[in-house]
Amino acid sequence: MKQKRFAARRADFMEQLGDTIAIIPAGKMQTRNDDVEHAFRQNSDFFFLTGFPEPDSVAVFDPAHDTERFTLFVRPRDPELEAWNGRRAGTEGAIERFGADAAHNLDELDGWLKRRFIGRGSIGYSVTDSSDERTLAAYAAAKAHARRAGVTTPDRIVDTSAILQEMRLYKSAEEIEALREACRISAAAHTEAMRFTSPDMSERQVQAAIEYVFMTMGSERVGYGSIVAGGENATILHYVENNQQLRGGDLLLIDAGAEYRYLTADITRTFPVNGIFTTPQRAIYDIVLDAEKRVIEMCGPGLPYSDMHEKAVELLSHGLVDLGLLPGSGEEAIDKGWYRQYFFHGTGHWLGLDVHDAGTYKVDGAGRRLEPSMAFTVEPGIYVAPHKPSVSLSNAQYDPKLAAELSYEIGAAAAKAEFVRRTEEAGSVDFDVPPEFLGIGVRIEDDLLITADGFENLSSGTPVDPDEIEAVCAEESELPLFG
Ligand code: GLY
Ligand code: MN
Ligand code: MN
Repeated sequence: MKQKRFAARRADFMEQLGDTIAIIPAGKMQTRNDDVEHAFRQNSDFFFLTGFPEPDSVAVFDPAHDTERFTLFVRPRDPELEAWNGRRAGTEGAIERFGADAAHNLDELDGWLKRRFIGRGSIGYSVTDSSDERTLAAYAAAKAHARRAGVTTPDRIVDTSAILQEMRLYKSAEEIEALREACRISAAAHTEAMRFTSPDMSERQVQAAIEYVFMTMGSERVGYGSIVAGGENATILHYVENNQQLRGGDLLLIDAGAEYRYLTADITRTFPVNGIFTTPQRAIYDIVLDAEKRVIEMCGPGLPYSDMHEKAVELLSHGLVDLGLLPGSGEEAIDKGWYRQYFFHGTGHWLGLDVHDAGTYKVDGAGRRLEPSMAFTVEPGIYVAPHKPSVSLSNAQYDPKLAAELSYEIGAAAAKAEFVRRTEEAGSVDFDVPPEFLGIGVRIEDDLLITADGFENLSSGTPVDPDEIEAVCAEESELPLFG
C-alpha cells in the first residue's frame, strides 16, 4: 500500500478543514447471524483518507494541532481473537504502516474526544456517508459534561462530505490506473460470459463464470451485486436474484463490474443467449447502441454533464417512435415524457471507489461541466415491460426538473398523485405496445474518463457491436462446466 497518496490526500483535506476537528469513522462489521458476519469492505471516505482496511476504526483529523494532526482509533491487538478473526494492525501498525501521528485503542475515543474538544469551535462530520452513532454519542456526552464543568466545546458541525465529494471526483494517476485495470478485468469477464453462455444454463452459472474471471485476474471483489438477467428479467433494473433458467431466443443482460484496488468498473452488455439476435431484439439493440456511441462521442472537457442525458433521451425517443413503440413524433415523446415508459433511469453517474461515486452533479445550483480526470458511466437502455401490452400516455407536458423538485418537496407519492391529476386534466392516449417487443430489455454501459483533450473509453475492450457480439458468442469458452 503506497502511503504517500493517502498522506497527500490528508494534507489536502486538512487544509480545507481549517481549524475544524473532523471525525471520520470506518465502516462497521455487520452481523449476518449469530457470530457470522457479512463480508467487510471499508467505507470509501475512510479508505480514501487512510488506506486502513479494518472495520470499526475511527480517524480524527485535527489540522490545528501541533503534532497530532491525524489520529487513528483502532481495535486493540488480541492474539486470541486474531487467531479466530484475522490480523489487526493495532496502534503500532496504525502509526508505522498507516502513517498516523498517534493511535489509540477504540475504547479511549470518548475520553480523548472530550479533552480534544475543549475550547474548540467546530467539528467536522460526514452526515450523508458515514453516519455513525458512536461519534455522535461521544459528541453529545462531551457537550453535556462540558456544560456542567463550565468549559466550552464545539457548537458547530461542518458537513465534511462536501469536501470529500469534491476531492473524490477528480481521480489521481493511481486511481486511473486501478480503474483501467478494473475495466480490463471486467471486459475480459463480459467477453468470456458471451462465449460461456448457452440456453441450458442458469443465470447463476453465468454469474459464477463472470466472478471467476474477476477474481482469477486479481479483482478483490465485485463492485456491486452482479446483475445477470435473462429474458424479461432484464426489464427489472436492479435484478439480482440471478436464479432463473436461460432460454434460447432470449437476451441476457449482464451488469457486472470488478473492483480492483478499491476502484470499481460498472459495465453492462446485452447479448443473445443462443448467440443470434432476433429481428426485434436487434432493432432495439441498435437504437440503444446508437445512443451509447453518440453520447460517448460528445464527451470531453467543458461538456455540461446533463447534456449527456438530454442527448440520450432525444435519440432514444426518436428511435422508440421509429420502431413503433410510441405513437406521435420524437418531439412529442420528449415533451410529454412518453419515453419514460421504456427509459426511466439516468444516463450515468460518477464512478470510482463506489459504483455510484461521490461528487455532485451541480455546482452552486448550475449544472457541472466535465473536467479532466473525472470518471463516469454512460448507460442508456430500453426496457419493454412484459406485463404492459398497452400503456396510457399522458398528454400533459413533462418537465423532468419540475418532477424532481416536486418529488423532493412534497414526497414521491404526492408528486405522483399530482402528475396523475395533471394527466386527468390533459387527457391521455391509449397505446398498444407491439407484441414482438414485450419483455425485451437492453442496456449498454461503458466507463469513461475525461482527458485533457477528450475522453478515454475504459471499457472499450468489451464487445459491443452486434456482429462482433454474435461472433464472440460463437467462440468456445475455456471455462469448465461442472455438475
Ligand atoms: N450497476 C448499477 C448501475 O449501473 O448503476
Ligand atoms: Mn451504472
Ligand atoms: Mn451498471
